[in-house]
Amino acid sequence: MQQHDVLILDFGSQYTQLIARRVRELNIYCEIHPYNKPPANANDFKAIILSGSPSSVRAENAPHFDFSEIRGNKPILAVCYGAQYLAHFSGGNVAPSNTREYGRANLSYIKENEIFFSRISEGSQVWMSHSDTIKELPTGAILLASTSDVENAAFRIEGEDTYAIQFHPEVYHSTDGKRLLENFLVNIAGIAQTWTSDSFVETTVSELQETLGNDKVVLGLSGGVDSSVAAVLLHKAIGKNLYCIFVNNGLLRKNEFESVLNQYEGMGLNVKGVDASARFLNALSGISDPEKKRKAIGNSFIDVFDDEAHKIEGVTWLAQGTIYPDVIESVSVNGGPSATIKSHHNVGGLPDFMKLKIVEPLRMIFKDEVRRVGASMGIDSELLARHPFPGPGLAIRILGNITPEKVRILQEVDAIFINGLKEYGLYNKVWQAGAILLPVNSVGVMGDERTYEKVVALRAVESTDGMTADWVNLPYEFLQKISNQIINKVKGVNRVVYDISSKPPATIEWE
Ligand code: XMP
Repeated sequence: MQQHDVLILDFGSQYTQLIARRVRELNIYCEIHPYNKPPANANDFKAIILSGSPSSVRAENAPHFDFSEIRGNKPILAVCYGAQYLAHFSGGNVAPSNTREYGRANLSYIKENEIFFSRISEGSQVWMSHSDTIKELPTGAILLASTSDVENAAFRIEGEDTYAIQFHPEVYHSTDGKRLLENFLVNIAGIAQTWTSDSFVETTVSELQETLGNDKVVLGLSGGVDSSVAAVLLHKAIGKNLYCIFVNNGLLRKNEFESVLNQYEGMGLNVKGVDASARFLNALSGISDPEKKRKAIGNSFIDVFDDEAHKIEGVTWLAQGTIYPDVIESVSVNGGPSATIKSHHNVGGLPDFMKLKIVEPLRMIFKDEVRRVGASMGIDSELLARHPFPGPGLAIRILGNITPEKVRILQEVDAIFINGLKEYGLYNKVWQAGAILLPVNSVGVMGDERTYEKVVALRAVESTDGMTADWVNLPYEFLQKISNQIINKVKGVNRVVYDISSKPPATIEWE
């Protein structure tokens, strides 16, 4: 049985995912659910955390959650909006703040001998982000902490395990935030810190065995971290009943198809490599528009995958490498009651006619947890540290129409860049890197000859989730070496530029 430790009710705060991250860092399992769609098994959870919100409790359409059933019966931690909610609807008073309460503050008062604040001292820095303030505490509340601007910064309700804080313990700037969460979850709610990669693997494998029995499952491997870890988990659970398909769309990195396929086979996976390069390149022929390229690739992938899946007799499940941020996003507070979880796929979803049931073994874990789970199952660290690579591959890094010759040139350039990053110990300092083939020729000189050849751009970015990104300040010496190597070794390229644009306003990929 999956653990049911902590239920985080999301009222729409930008920080809700961070609460989950901090709780998981304490080796405690948690799930985020929108306040207006709590899970049917809410009562199974051992503690509830109410998140912050961009809304005001005083607004007419304020997010409302009836927790009269759980209050007093279960430990509750109300954060920011949650704290104001508790005050506003239980006899206190919430009003607009006189001063802007945003940023760092320090606790100027902490009530003595409170478990909630154990190992935390006055002066501790906390992060505030709110425009309403609690003027009067709710009925039965005991003040636990204040800052110079916010008197009612933390309180508890007498006779209940109900705690409330105006500040955000989940934000790193709250220096003792994790300790506070630990005090609440471990010392007050009595939750054991047993959620680890190993325990995740153990429970997930046995759940998969129970759900899948002797059924056959098909999974599309991409060479990336998520699908690889999902495959190994499923393989552990059902062995040869997992049928993996790894498609070469002709737009992968140089030698990637062969080397990754070898790696998968070495891991004992039941994997079939399908070289469909010609089919993809054919479908892309003459197309220059980025979205049309994506569509052509997505459709070709569906065709190839469907053909292959049909060859597996009696297959009833499709496995996907969906991870938790995708799930959370798709059932957001504003998604409405009918919002469905998106079927996430790199290249545009799979057709309904496949009529397969979906299994997503990673749907409750975050990216870095996926990597840790992979490591705990012995997956090669190089595979786990791979940069993200887009489903449409090099097609969206070749600006304009695609030809086999352009693919060859870009593969060569990309390989020099990526291998160089590895040699110089820079690969793991970069979130994503690649080369882009530009649709322009420029004049150059080689020996005594005039050349008129292609320009390539190099791109390396730092990011945490790809939503925002900064270009990486790669050493000049490195750029100089790589540029020389590219121009000397790759026929058809006479100029290299480095992309120094951040996202936003640029994007990571050029198309
Ligand atoms: P952008 O270019 O939007 O990229 O800043 C953000 C992240 O998404 C990847 N990306 C894609 N991944 N199919 C994918 O599977 C796509 O069509 C696609 N377009 C962009 C990109 O590589 C980066 O990691």
